[in-house]
Amino acid sequence: MNILIIGGKLQGTEIAYLANKAGWTVHLVDKNPMAAAIDLCDYYYKLDLFDTQKILRIFKKVDVVIPALENTSCIAIIERYGIMTNTIVLFDSHAFDISSSKIKSNLFFREINIPMPRDFEECLLNNLPVIVKPSDRSGSEGVQIFNNPADAKSFIAEHPDYICQQYVEGPSYSIEVIGNGKTFESLVITEIIVDEECDCQCVIAPARIDGKLERAFHNIATKIAGALKIKGIFDIEVIEKNNRLYVLEIDARMPSQTPIAVYFATGINMVKEMILYNTIDNYRICPSLSKYCILQHVYLQGSKVRGKGEGIMSQVGPLLHKTDYFGVDEALISNPKIYNGFVAELIVSSPTYNDAKYQLEHSIEKLEEKLMEVEYDAIE
Ligand SMILES: Nc1ncnc2c1ncn2[C@@H]1O[C@H](COP(=O)(O)OP(=O)(O)O)[C@@H](O)[C@H]1O
Ligand SMILES: [Mg+2]
Repeated sequence: MNILIIGGKLQGTEIAYLANKAGWTVHLVDKNPMAAAIDLCDYYYKLDLFDTQKILRIFKKVDVVIPALENTSCIAIIERYGIMTNTIVLFDSHAFDISSSKIKSNLFFREINIPMPRDFEECLLNNLPVIVKPSDRSGSEGVQIFNNPADAKSFIAEHPDYICQQYVEGPSYSIEVIGNGKTFESLVITEIIVDEECDCQCVIAPARIDGKLERAFHNIATKIAGALKIKGIFDIEVIEKNNRLYVLEIDARMPSQTPIAVYFATGINMVKEMILYNTIDNYRICPSLSKYCILQHVYLQGSKVRGKGEGIMSQVGPLLHKTDYFGVDEALISNPKIYNGFVAELIVSSPTYNDAKYQLEHSIEKLEEKLMEVEYDAIE
């Protein structure tokens, strides 16, 4: 199987990583020669998507194309190339159109009765803290919290392209759903730990969540998937408070971080499963492992290795893939020949959560010792 990924940032990195695990040949198009996913691919083409003749030649070589970018005109042209070359493009533009706008998604949630954080007016009445988020950005960009809702008033007036809702404090969970337009399967619930800027720094798979909430989340997932008629993949992010779940957002595209964590915990390879689910009748997705995975992003600050949101991973150039790295199962690290610093995505898995946590902490200690012994650019 030859797979073409368009866009080599964090989603592209996730897809390349899992396509490698499936044993597939991975092609990547990205005009940026410093894109994170480049060294995880068999073939890299430094091309602009609008360089039609060259791109069409690549489309003809591959079996399936997965867009890993969020620009709607880029997605439209990828779909056109797919039609011109009769190549499968796995992307649900209709679902993406809703999910890429928080204004549209919130209207959609309201229509189908999905539990959401309270809206701004209610927060103002009850003096509840609020959060503002740009409607059409992702990766926690531009997110801001106001403890006093009255303080958010002028911000909202000046930023009509933002949404404002109750800031719900509590543990955060995520789930992916794969569908073929007619049937759907919700996969594994993961636990999301964010940094001080609300960016996800750690994923735990599966989430340590009670059975009732787990069922409630799967029910929400089924309801949204049915209404979207999803063809491909989307994920849902929720926050839990007082045994209730509040939906924050959906994203109808391959996410980053959670798929790798789910792969290490259950053996479910979302890239492979999404393609099989869309090409084989009555295909069922089954786990082959039952472990806990912790996926943690870290960076070096002084002599300490600290956790940080995944945004750091997209700022350091092409990442290197490591196996058996300082006691973790696998890692993606910054390339010391390119980046004068150190960031890594560390992946550990173990039959119990406590073992996985111990393994991660122990690895971070070993990594810190090594980083103190030598210049960090020698750590490869
Ligand atoms: N209503 C909310 N209450 C508490 N935290 C929130 C709320 N909305 C967003 N957040 C935090 O901000 C992060 C980013 O918001 P999200 O809606 O997921 O947008 P995006 O990921 O597209 O930037 C979430 O992961 C969560 O940590
Ligand atoms: Mg989010």
